[in-house]
Amino acid sequence: MADKKAQLTIEGLDEAIDLPIYSGTTGPDVIDVRGLINAGYFTYDPGFVSTASCESGITYIDGANGILLHRGYPIDQLAKNSNHIELCYLLLNGELPTAEQYADFESRIRNHTMVHEQIANFFKGFRRDAHPMAVMCGVAGALSAFYHDNLDITQEYDRQVSAIRLVAKMPTLAAMCYKYNIGQPFMYPRNDLSYAENFLYMMFGTPCEEYVPNPVFAKAMDRIFMLHADHEQNASTSTVRLAGSTGANPFACISAGIAALWGPAHGGANEAVLAMLSEIGDDSEENIQRFVDRAKDREDPFRLMGFGHRVYRNFDPRAKVMKETCDEVLGELGLGDDPQLKIAKRLEQIALEDDFFIERKLYPNVDFYSGIILKAMGVPTNMFTVIFAMARTIGWVSHWNEMITNGVRIGRPRQLYTGQPQRDYPEKK
Ligand code: CMC
Repeated sequence: MADKKAQLTIEGLDEAIDLPIYSGTTGPDVIDVRGLINAGYFTYDPGFVSTASCESGITYIDGANGILLHRGYPIDQLAKNSNHIELCYLLLNGELPTAEQYADFESRIRNHTMVHEQIANFFKGFRRDAHPMAVMCGVAGALSAFYHDNLDITQEYDRQVSAIRLVAKMPTLAAMCYKYNIGQPFMYPRNDLSYAENFLYMMFGTPCEEYVPNPVFAKAMDRIFMLHADHEQNASTSTVRLAGSTGANPFACISAGIAALWGPAHGGANEAVLAMLSEIGDDSEENIQRFVDRAKDREDPFRLMGFGHRVYRNFDPRAKVMKETCDEVLGELGLGDDPQLKIAKRLEQIALEDDFFIERKLYPNVDFYSGIILKAMGVPTNMFTVIFAMARTIGWVSHWNEMITNGVRIGRPRQLYTGQPQRDYPEKK
């Protein structure tokens, strides 16, 4: 399987260590360092900057050139020609569905949208003012307590049922988090609506009057789902894989992924963008510049949220598509003059022109625009990351399924120990 090999010479060792090199279908080669342990060495790579943690055929990112492919298809082509449900099928199964496969998959998702009635009681255990992501971590994990009939992860059928349940029920749970938070009744899903329309209905509909989803919003929401669906081995997906490597059930693994997503350096960034725009507040040029200067000051922890990405060092291809959708939604709402949007646009412009950001290749990422769109559609900021979690569920479960299908060893990293060497417990006087 090794196409080439690397040789590692270590001072004090007589012989070089041979390390096989493997090539993927595209992207950098990887050096297999597993043999190093035999020579008594570990590799050291905090933050996994240079480490491929697994083999995968789902998503490919070329950060230098701003390329994102799902199963080989570029994200902009998918966003333009496909929809979230078809993308879910593609990510999970590897190929685009035929018309018949699509109809079957879509109908299975539609028919699994309702959650066990007892889950409504489960919600009642939470404080109403709890952050919806806190509730999401709990209720997603609790699904394993409600749907334990198909939890034999060695069975392909069971894994598929769990994947369908997760994709179908996450919007219902997400909307329930919102309704619980604001004290409105939960809305049962409506299976005559599309995936995105149904989510908007469960969020914004009430039993008191008819709710007709705005088609521009439904399209924007579907785009948001698609653009967040998967992103190879990011922090939350790696968390799902690590949890899954122990044999934990998929609902527990997804709950772990939701927790990892919550952080502001990851999925929490879309919420942090709006918090930052509020903190900036005044849309005058001097004030905006003051915050930009703060972001450039190494002594100041302030960062421009929604800018920068570990992998994309040119532009974020998702941000390009999201920007178009952002313009569509703002146009529909006639919101071009909103002060926060003015700040956002100015920040975007400064970041694209300022040497500090250019040198460090800090461009607006997907979360910069998704936060703006969601706010414009009336979604409260504390729901932004919940929507990201809903959308990323298919990515998480596809990676989990791939990992189990390919066979997995428990994930167990080692460390560079810098604590106390062995010492004796002091004698008691
Ligand atoms: N504002 C100001 N400076 C920044 C920013 C920013 N948003 N991001 C990075 N930098 C600077 C950083 O201070 C460092 O400068 P220097 O070399 O002078 O010390 C340089 O750029 C490299 O930064 P880094 O922290 O080493 O980069 P990283 O790859 O470890 O972090 C990141 C990537 C996304 C966590 C970071 O850019 C960031 O915190 N961005 C804001 C949060 C955000 O928008 N996250 C969403 C990412 S996209 C969605 C997702 O993956 O969930």
